[in-house]
Amino acid sequence: MSTSIVIFGASGDLTSRKLIPALFNNFSKERLPADFNIVGVARRPYSDDDFRKLQLESAQNFAKDTFTSELWEKFAPHLHYYKLDFEAESDFSGLDEYLKGSEVEGTGQHESNNRLYYLAVSPDYYADIVRKLGAARMSEENGGWRRIVIEKPFGTDLASALDLDKVVHAVFDEDQVYRIDHYIGKETAQNILFFRFANAIFEPIWNRNFVDNVLITVAEDVDVGTRAGYYDGAGILRDMFQNHLLQLLTLTAMEPPAAFNAVAVRNEKVKVLTSIRPVALQDTVRAQYEGYTSTKGVDPNSETATFAQIKLFIDNWRWQDVPFYIRSGKALKAKLSEVTVRFKRPPTMFFHLEPNEEFTPNVITLAIQPDEGVHLRFEAKVPGNVQQMRSVDMDFHYKDGFSGVVLVDAYERLLLDALNGDATLFIRSDEIEASWRLIDPVIKGWASSRAPSLALYKRGTWGPQAAEQQLTHDGRHWRVYSHVLGGTGG
Ligand code: BG6
Repeated sequence: MSTSIVIFGASGDLTSRKLIPALFNNFSKERLPADFNIVGVARRPYSDDDFRKLQLESAQNFAKDTFTSELWEKFAPHLHYYKLDFEAESDFSGLDEYLKGSEVEGTGQHESNNRLYYLAVSPDYYADIVRKLGAARMSEENGGWRRIVIEKPFGTDLASALDLDKVVHAVFDEDQVYRIDHYIGKETAQNILFFRFANAIFEPIWNRNFVDNVLITVAEDVDVGTRAGYYDGAGILRDMFQNHLLQLLTLTAMEPPAAFNAVAVRNEKVKVLTSIRPVALQDTVRAQYEGYTSTKGVDPNSETATFAQIKLFIDNWRWQDVPFYIRSGKALKAKLSEVTVRFKRPPTMFFHLEPNEEFTPNVITLAIQPDEGVHLRFEAKVPGNVQQMRSVDMDFHYKDGFSGVVLVDAYERLLLDALNGDATLFIRSDEIEASWRLIDPVIKGWASSRAPSLALYKRGTWGPQAAEQQLTHDGRHWRVYSHVLGGTGG
């Protein structure tokens, strides 16, 4: 039995920056199936050798920790290239024959060989490629499995996501489909579940009785860079919220699943997504960094948001009336992703507070990146003959707790899961639908006359004043908690 990993879009950035390095890393750890082929598929007329040369560079640059020439010599013969025009139906039967040929070569019985198709192409091609795989009967499982990995974005709004799903389901069964969101592949995103459900002390307070509010931040210091063409049409809600932000929210808010498997975990995530109250436009902040409209490829009158903050409520027993502020932006002060749970203040306070001094609540911060870890902020007595308190931080950093261990890249983990048939960390079709149902009305509202005004913010800050004001207005504070820039920012 052999396994073919067929990458559509083999000459693209994702293939060289993420997929080949992830496969190389898995190979170095002897985690790939015993008999495997990686077949890069794209339009350019490369030979196997050209493709190998190109990918050698990617492995050297992006799999630095494991790369050795010796290992590369062993890995390279598994790489192949097939030239294909995504629009030509006959090319797909040709690809099928080609794959059968290499599978036969490998094992002598192609019927029981496995195939993972990876769509690393522009989303415009997803439906077409899937239809053509169907027409060439390349999704049929005659002994071996056939799986397809689909990158984000899955649709550009609710209607297009539903349409795409129809096309996909006409060819593949849902359990053959692996929709990727690299955020849940991050070790520290998974650690949200470990933190909550592998410990007994946090879960009892993880609810509306103890939690005042939750802040989920995914800040980036980079701007739109060379992706302006795509980004100006997409904007922050499609690029980050419908997927990454909502995924972090589901992990933070979901009930304990009955088991850690694809069905149970995803059932719980869907329950969270479908319990979120429709977003009120006045609970949203949309903003753009200064200078965005002068970027090459951006419409000079563009109102595309590069920053957003949304206040959400989850209407269920655990979270009723607890606001979840989710926010993300480009060209901010630092790259930082974190989930912060802020607790209520004690019912009464008899220790000394200076006049005008506010009580600081206990905070648990799950730092997703870059300084992966967990922080607990609590009040401590200031030493000396005083009744004063000060906030202190009890922290765990992955780099210290697991020193010498390199955190596995999301793609490395997710590719392996797809090969092993574990869809727990992939997005099911009902999750996609529920998240679009939530975000699509906001996108449409922002394009209407009811849209909140577009705020501007300076690059290198934490975003617009309006975002801060949304929290102050609610009697809360806008902060980031992870240790960046040598201390707590914000
Ligand atoms: C991608 C978005 O999905 O995630 C990008 O399209 C964004 O705009 C990226 O920069 C952020 O991912 P990470 O892993 O660097 O935080």
